[in-house]
This record gives sequence, structure tokens and C-alpha cells, in this order.
Amino acid sequence: MTRILITSAIPYINGIKHLGNLVGSQLPADLYARYQRARGAEVMFICATDEHGTPAELAAAKAGKPVAEFCAEMYEIQADIAKRFGLSFDHFGRSSSPQNHKLTQHFAGRLKAEGYIEEVSEKQVYSNADGRFLPDRYIEGTCPNCGYDKARGDQCENCTKQLDPTDLIEPRSAISGSTDLEVRETKHLYLRQSKLKDQLDDWINSKTDWPVLTTSIAKKWLHDGDGLRDRGITRDLDWGVPVKDGENDWPGMEGKVFYVWFDAPIEYIAATKEWADARGLDDSAWERWWRTDKGADDVRYVQFMGKDNVPFHTLSFPATIMGSGEPWKLVDYIKSFNYLNYDGGQFSTSQGRGVFMDQALDILPADYWRWWLLSHAPETSDSEFTWENFQSSVNKDLADVLGNFVSRVTKFCNSKFGPAVPEGGAYGEREQALIVDLTTKIRAYENHMAAMDVRKSAAELRSIWVAGNEYLQDVAPWTTFKENPEQAAAQIRLALNLIRVYAVLSAPFIPTASAQMLSGMNTLDMSWPDDVEAALGVLPVGHEFTVPEVLFAKISDDQREEWAEKFSGVRS
Ligand code: 2FM
Ligand code: ZN
Repeated sequence: MTRILITSAIPYINGIKHLGNLVGSQLPADLYARYQRARGAEVMFICATDEHGTPAELAAAKAGKPVAEFCAEMYEIQADIAKRFGLSFDHFGRSSSPQNHKLTQHFAGRLKAEGYIEEVSEKQVYSNADGRFLPDRYIEGTCPNCGYDKARGDQCENCTKQLDPTDLIEPRSAISGSTDLEVRETKHLYLRQSKLKDQLDDWINSKTDWPVLTTSIAKKWLHDGDGLRDRGITRDLDWGVPVKDGENDWPGMEGKVFYVWFDAPIEYIAATKEWADARGLDDSAWERWWRTDKGADDVRYVQFMGKDNVPFHTLSFPATIMGSGEPWKLVDYIKSFNYLNYDGGQFSTSQGRGVFMDQALDILPADYWRWWLLSHAPETSDSEFTWENFQSSVNKDLADVLGNFVSRVTKFCNSKFGPAVPEGGAYGEREQALIVDLTTKIRAYENHMAAMDVRKSAAELRSIWVAGNEYLQDVAPWTTFKENPEQAAAQIRLALNLIRVYAVLSAPFIPTASAQMLSGMNTLDMSWPDDVEAALGVLPVGHEFTVPEVLFAKISDDQREEWAEKFSGVRS
């Protein structure tokens, strides 16, 4: 059996994610996981909260809570929202888990043993006003690359350039805003990733099937001279994974923790161990996904992330794995995304701009959002959420095309033949033509889904729904019924079966509506339509059904205006 390991970039714990975060990692990863499971693959789908570093510290301070308590609470909130969005993680872990502490310390020890760690006496920014060393993210200033005036000391959010705080023009403390900063000496560990340049180069060059967005970012950072610069992997913070050499203390590193970007991707592995531990399974259960000497050779590993995460996943994390000298699984395919913008600007967590996951679910069920977001995924370029576009997609695709098909077919059958698949008549030329058409479209859909072409998959799925509607429109069973009820019965028999097929094909996009359709069709049969003709006979004559509730309500102009207004400002 095909085995697929899927990880979504792990969201920072600092707050509830917005729809732009969702469509850039967790949601398309879920689409792929659901699809692969439906096709019979053994899937391990992992996500977690990214709990260390300054984002967590800053947010906890703002909330006036101890950071551990803040993280524990936010974890529950994020896990609950993920569930309500239908994100089908096999495990949603926490980067602050004991498993991740241990594994991160293990990797550091291995890297040290293999000669990839250097102890460096470093000059670090100290804020006199705040009375502390400032971690990179606590320093803000102007980006030397693009001139953005809110660039952070670790990375410019605007142009994605990785930065050092000393690169910033006119730096200031993000805590107090003070510019009374000075540079002091302190010791830190550096990951000598530059020594792995050739190995990384060969590895990235071997990935000829990766999306252009992924390889272009990876190559840019690899060859830009600066991208593979050795990087500090320790910080002066209380909260995080304490610096250790495996299980041993690391002299001189007392009171320091690993940099959040060092331990975050290791959490992909640790979360799989958390999954095994939670089930009382032994180590072989998670190692078969991650250790090539323990079965992971057969695993295809796919990662999903926004473009700003690509440098860390194509360079830093692979450097950690390669440098460990142990047979850990490297990623096979990285699906990355551009940004989703919100109504003429950027979604922004720090500025509370856009629609956040909890707010989205307060106004409409998850499937409405899943459909819009996935069918407009920012794959080849940035894309934009507008309320007009959202209203039009929901009303046209979901309500008029899919919802209407299900409702017309079940209601018509119920009123003319009763609530069971009717007997009589036979499939003729028009039905054969539909089967040929659907077969072509379903094969195309499978190819797009396998290739993780999200928008193309959505467009193909929609065209599969449209084909059913056109058929119904053409054969008009309500007219046929008057002269030839037997033939109308055959047409409706096909259409009822098509509802089941639609439920199966659509489940990765809109799992709740799909479950409603299956429940209406009174079946648990989720078999994939490998043979479309056979699939259109799965519900036999006499099989009972119930008319489902309205699957999708249309969005009215009043609602659209109300929401546009409500979400025009910033979240407090
Ligand atoms: O950009 C982010 O939201 C990061 N928290 C992603 C981390 S992904 C990985 F390294 F675990
Ligand atoms: Zn910049």
C-alpha cells in the first residue's frame, strides 16, 4: 500500500489564524490527505502548534498570562477550530511537548558530534530601557532590501528576506519602542549549514518535479551567498527547549534555549511520536514514517506551507537532517503557496486585518470557506478575497450547481416515485455520453489531485457537477415522466447514483456536505468511481433515501454588505 506522510507548516501559537494562513498550509494539506485516504493510501497527516520563541512570549505578555498557561489555552482553541474546519489531522501536536524537547536536544547532540555546530561569541542587541537582550523578533526597523518599515530582526514579512537584527535600518525595541539599544557580547551555537551547501545543492537539483515557487525560492537562498550563512540556533529566552547536547548539559549554554525555527520542524517528527505515545504504541509505529532504516524508505513525504516558510524547509531543516548523520526521512515534495490578500490589502495577524478562522465559522459553515479558499488557492500568484467573489462562488458553484442538483433530483423522485431508487427503463445514448464525459473528467480530477494542483482540481470537480446538471436539463425527467415514466425512472436512477458519486468525489473539498449527501442517500459506500458505469449502479432499485436538508444556503446581498462592513476594520 502506498504510504504518504503529510505535514502542514505548524501555526504559531500566538493567536487564531486568519484565512490566508489556512489556505497556505493546513487546508490544502487536508485536501490532499483526504484525497489520498479516499484512494486507499495509508496516510499520516501531522500538524501542531509552534509554541516557542518570541511570538509566544509577546502574545502571552499581551494577554497578561504566564507563557506556558497561555500556550496550553491557545492550543485547545486552535485544536478546536481546526476540528470545526474539518482539518483531519492524525495528530495535532505541540512543539513544547516533552517528545520535541528530547528530539531537538538529540539532533543538536548529533550535529555537534558530526562537527556541524560552532560555538560563537556573538554581539547581541541589548535594550537598556527593557533591561534585557532582545531576540531578533523583538527588534523592528526598516528592511535594507525593500524598505518596508516594520521589518523584524529575523525576517522581512514584506519581501521574505531573512535578516539579522543588525541589518535593520533605524532599529528599535518591539517591546518598548526604545532606540536606546547597544550591542553586547554573549555565546551562542551556530549551525554550520554552509558546510552542507554542495549536498543541499545536489538534493534540490534532484527535485525536478517541485513547484517553481518552491525551487525558485530555494535556489535563490542557496546561491545568494547569504542564504546559507551559518545561523545561530540558540536564544536568550526562558521559554523554549533548553540547550543540551543530547541528554547532557552543554557547558556555557546554561539559561539558553534553542531558536524556535530549529525546534519547530523537528516537531513534525516529535508529533508523530506524540501520536504513537498517545496510543500506547512502541517506537516502531512512528519510526516507520521517519527512519529510512526502519521502513520509511517506502514513504512519500509531502510538506505544505506558505512561501515565507520555504527557506527553512528547503535549507535549514534539511541541513539539520543531513548533518545528523542518521537515516531520517527527507521531504520528497514541497507544495508552497503565495499569499492570499484581503479586500485590497494584506491579511495581517499583528494588525488584526481580515477574517480569522473563528469569525469565519461564526457566520457560515466550514464547507463554504473550504470551497472558496481552495478554489481560489494562491498557487501561481497571490490571490485576493473579496466578499463579492465569495458570494458569487458560493451561490453559483455550491448552491446553484451542486446543491440544486441534489435537491431537484431527490425532491422530484420523492414526489413522483417515492423515497427509493425507482425501477424501470434503461440507460440509452445520452446516458452513455454522460458516462464517457464523466470518465474523462474524473480521470482529469484524479490527475490534478495527485499533482496537488488545487485550483485545477476544484475547477474539474465543478465541471463534474455541471455535467450532471446539464444532463438533467437535457433529459428533463419532469417532462419525460408525462409520456414515459419508465424512462424518467432510469434517468432519476442515474441521477440518484450520481449524488453518491458526487459525495465521494467532493468529500476532500466539502466533507460536511458530502456526509450529508451520503446520509441522504442512506449509504456508507464511499467506493471511488474507478468505473463510472459501475459506480452509477451502486444504489440498486428499491434502495431508500431521504431528501437532504438544503445543502447550501445562498448568500444574500444584505448579508454580503453586512459582513463586508463588519470585517472592514481591524480586530481588537
Ligand atoms: O510561519 C509560521 O507560522 C511558522 N510557525 C511555521 C513553522 S513550520 C515548521 F517549521 F514547523
Ligand atoms: Zn523587505
